[in-house]
Amino acid sequence: MAFSPRVFSGIQPSGDLHLGNYLGAIRRFVPLQDTHETLYCVVDMHAITVWQEPNALRRATREVAAAFIAAGVDPKRSIVFNQSQVMQHAELAWVFNCVARIGWMNRMTQFKDKAGKNSENVSLGLLAYPSLMAADILLYKATAVPVGDDQKQHLELTRDIAAKFNNDYAASIAEQGLDPDFFPITEPLIAGPATRIMSLRDGTKKMSKSDPSDQSRISLLDDADAISKKIKKATTDPAELPLEVADLKERPEADNLVGIYAALSDKTKAEVLAEFGGHGWGKFKPALADLAVAQLAPMAGEMRRLIDDPTTIDGILRDGGERAAALAEKTMHDVRRIVGFIR
Ligand code: TRP
Repeated sequence: MAFSPRVFSGIQPSGDLHLGNYLGAIRRFVPLQDTHETLYCVVDMHAITVWQEPNALRRATREVAAAFIAAGVDPKRSIVFNQSQVMQHAELAWVFNCVARIGWMNRMTQFKDKAGKNSENVSLGLLAYPSLMAADILLYKATAVPVGDDQKQHLELTRDIAAKFNNDYAASIAEQGLDPDFFPITEPLIAGPATRIMSLRDGTKKMSKSDPSDQSRISLLDDADAISKKIKKATTDPAELPLEVADLKERPEADNLVGIYAALSDKTKAEVLAEFGGHGWGKFKPALADLAVAQLAPMAGEMRRLIDDPTTIDGILRDGGERAAALAEKTMHDVRRIVGFIR
């Protein structure tokens, strides 16, 4: 059976959103609304795998929802909601905890990075994180998942869980008269290299909310002045911009700024270099600052307006939650019967 093209993606409400979140994920959510049924989720249950102060979690949840909408996600066309409102996520995650193997989880590089030497003393939820992520996606039988390349391994695990569930329960799935490919094998829509955004201070490090330097990232709430200053002060090498993309290779800062320009203008790096190659930073940085301000400052304004009106945001999330739950319940209804739960 063909699954209808359905997109699911999620963003964690665990701190300030920055340009990397926007170009790597949120911006790409918008055009998918024209071709797919789209669900965009604020994954608050994932956020609490590490400690979140409750009021900060509420604030961050509204901030992510505001960013979706300010970026152009239409809450009528898309389903915009926070994960914890749809209890079926937790329910399916539990079943997947019993399908997936501990060894699969231990191999996840994001877990190893986050747990570090402390792997005995992190939450059990942090280890099981990918199982909940698989539940997010498979509850809606999503066929495409736009994420950054750091999530590739989690998506492969999602495919492994879907395949093992379909296989372990094959007899029961048949007995219930359901499609043998009960869960689809989801395709990742990995962002291209131009959307891997690096720190403005060090082109070899990812732009990150945990970098102690505020100058290293452009927050999605920054105003025009802050955006412009940060770009003009960004670290660069002294050479002028090259004519060829290949010559960006050994120049991480130049590569990053050209990549940001390309992503914001929907151009390739080659097209950007066709315009700016052979010129110095004195020409390129002001052009990039203008482009970034023109795109990001109005979005920041709209985000602030939405954040200041929590009743509206919460209403959008509740409406999205109800629509999501109706879809999720269809899948869970079948899953309970497949597994052998009595209702
Ligand atoms: N793990 C993702 C991240 O940290 C967030 C996420 C949770 C997600 N569930 C998802 C992304 C489902 C895509 C689909 O970026």
